[in-house]
Amino acid sequence: MRNLVKRFGKFTALDGISFEVKEGEIFGLLGPNGAGKTTTISILSTTINLTSGHASIYNRDVVKSKDDARKLIGIVFQDPSLDEELTGRENLDFHARLYGIKGNDKREAIDRVLKLVELEDKADKQVKTYSGGMKRRLEIARGFMHKPKVLFLDEPTIGLDPQTRRKIWEYIVKLNKKEKLTILLTTHYMEEADAICSRIAIIDHGRIIRLDTAEKLKDSLGGDVIKIGTGNPKRLMAILKKCKLFGSIKEFNNGLEITTNNGSHAIPKIIELAKDAGIDVAYTTLNRPTLEDVFISLTGNAIREESASSADQLKANQEARDTRGKPI
Ligand SMILES: Nc1ncnc2c1ncn2[C@@H]1O[C@H](COP(=O)(O)OP(=O)(O)OP(=O)(O)O)[C@@H](O)[C@H]1O
Ligand SMILES: [Mg+2]
Repeated sequence: MRNLVKRFGKFTALDGISFEVKEGEIFGLLGPNGAGKTTTISILSTTINLTSGHASIYNRDVVKSKDDARKLIGIVFQDPSLDEELTGRENLDFHARLYGIKGNDKREAIDRVLKLVELEDKADKQVKTYSGGMKRRLEIARGFMHKPKVLFLDEPTIGLDPQTRRKIWEYIVKLNKKEKLTILLTTHYMEEADAICSRIAIIDHGRIIRLDTAEKLKDSLGGDVIKIGTGNPKRLMAILKKCKLFGSIKEFNNGLEITTNNGSHAIPKIIELAKDAGIDVAYTTLNRPTLEDVFISLTGNAIREESASSADQLKANQEARDTRGKPI
């Protein structure tokens, strides 16, 4: 996509976004609430129109060749969109019919996706008896049952507990590898982007502020930080400065703080140099910058890991769904 702009009235939700997802990638759009993640996915999945710019999926323009683009994609929305009164299998059946999958193909497709997300046992139970994690797994299963080339996952693990979240990561990686699906996911969980995305675009206020692999993003902060506890920091500093292997070296209470690109190699070297000079080393610590540090350094703000408002939102949506369509 190039220079994607989306305005809602006078408000600019996307302010010129450009990026390309490569075939076979798990690409992450990482950003806080309101950054523009859902808006981006909605445009790519042809759910809403763009204001200006250009976006295509396998060379199918999402505006000019909307129907062709749509055939190539699967989507899991941020808000729950299952029919709670139906069973898991019935939800999948409904989706299959929408995509014109019939007869044996349909049965096979349903069994295949249920197996991948390990919901075979629960398939014939009503969705309203599922846990949040099971519902999300069913939605993911539904998203790829018509064999799309690209799967959009909008906040696939929002509001789930850490264990369930990890399980969902497993399915996402499995889908990417086994079903050869290219995946574009959005998240505001740092560790999610770090754990499963091949590349990450950090998005805030409708702009991409950095795009790279998690490793390179972290390296951009100047690499690792080593702390060395010693009774003789000044002498050790002089020795370390002389060998020019390290980045910045700062003194703090009874120790040194050293930046380096490769902390795990640097520590033994520092200890060796200290030992040769007869300087005691009380302790060493190694800190690798996290994506959170990257985010703070780029935006000046911490991203909220666990967003209460999102969880509340999810609950509110769920409640709205539960009451919808019920006899008064
Ligand atoms: N239909 C709409 N009308 C007006 N403003 C909108 C509409 N949809 C989104 N916005 C605004 O656009 C901005 C981006 O919203 P978007 O839903 O893309 O954010 P997001 O990154 O998905 O956030 P979240 O993490 O909360 O899901 C927000 O400020 C939002 O209020
Ligand atoms: Mg969103």
